[in-house]
Amino acid sequence: MTTMLSSDLPLPKIGRGKVRDIYAVDSDRLLLLATDRISAFDVVMAETIPMKGAVLTQISAYWFNALEGVVHHHMISANADEIIASVPALKNHRADILGRAMLCRRTKVFPIECVIRGYLSGSAWKEYAATGTLAGETLATGLVESVKLEPAIFSPATKAETGHDENITIARMREIVGDDDTYTLESMTRAIYTLGEELAREQGIIIADTKFEFGRDRDGRIILIDEVMTPDSSRFWAADAYQPGRPQPSFDKQPLRDYLDAERRAGRWNGDAPPPPLPASVVDATSKRYLEAYRRITGADLVI
Ligand SMILES: Nc1ncnc2c1ncn2[C@@H]1O[C@H](COP(=O)(O)OP(=O)(O)OP(=O)(O)O)[C@@H](O)[C@H]1O
Ligand SMILES: [Mg+2]
Repeated sequence: MTTMLSSDLPLPKIGRGKVRDIYAVDSDRLLLLATDRISAFDVVMAETIPMKGAVLTQISAYWFNALEGVVHHHMISANADEIIASVPALKNHRADILGRAMLCRRTKVFPIECVIRGYLSGSAWKEYAATGTLAGETLATGLVESVKLEPAIFSPATKAETGHDENITIARMREIVGDDDTYTLESMTRAIYTLGEELAREQGIIIADTKFEFGRDRDGRIILIDEVMTPDSSRFWAADAYQPGRPQPSFDKQPLRDYLDAERRAGRWNGDAPPPPLPASVVDATSKRYLEAYRRITGADLVI
């Protein structure tokens, strides 16, 4: 399988994220294509990580299938041949879309990142350590870093066009999308995370926190969209190395982060773009981590 930094398909490109390229198929459908780009500390690296795009797309596809009957979702197909059968314009681009593309129902997106945290980590730990609160709500005293939160905490954020998403209170979310949709989005978020966290934990991965997006389809239904419980939208930890009271290594990006930290400490990188070139050993170790994440989550090797 070829590795890809950027895609160029014969469809209107309507967006480009740090990792994914977004194409319009028609008024009802989108093609989301995960390249092999990788970012760390908010900087996109110059190298590609072989198989990363396929891992991301196929982990999302695994979850959409697992959630069948639990929530409505946007996936039509993540199979290249099925996609080509339904979008003939892609027939000469099978190698470009193989494994990494998902054909989706197009929706009107809620402008809210539905974040749910089952463990106290990252910015949530920083806030708690400073003020004893999370998303403005007071938590129990004496919690340690990375501890399991029961129940999990729903902490929405607004989708920022540029820069970092801004955490908002649930009261603010009600003002933005209304009481009924706030209730529905929180309930859906909890149902999806509860199922995912439990299934992943049985397979040796802790999904410490994650972020979902939802949209309204043509029939007015609220459906799960975007990517689902991937290493890019979630914090994945190895369950066998989990130890509360300290930060946990990141399952997928730790080799990359360790390398970049060392470059920074050595004064060879200032933390901004352009990033330093990555040695082949770091690229290789990172690719293996993504493939291992797929294997653990789904219980099978990724076959493309
Ligand atoms: N079914 C859908 N209908 C409409 N828009 C969707 C659907 N699924 C995903 N999207 C949108 O597609 C975009 C995917 O972009 P992507 O995640 O690659 O980049 P980003 O979120 O802008 O940046 P980042 O790289 O930080 O994630 C998001 O804006 C998401 O809301
Ligand atoms: Mg995104």
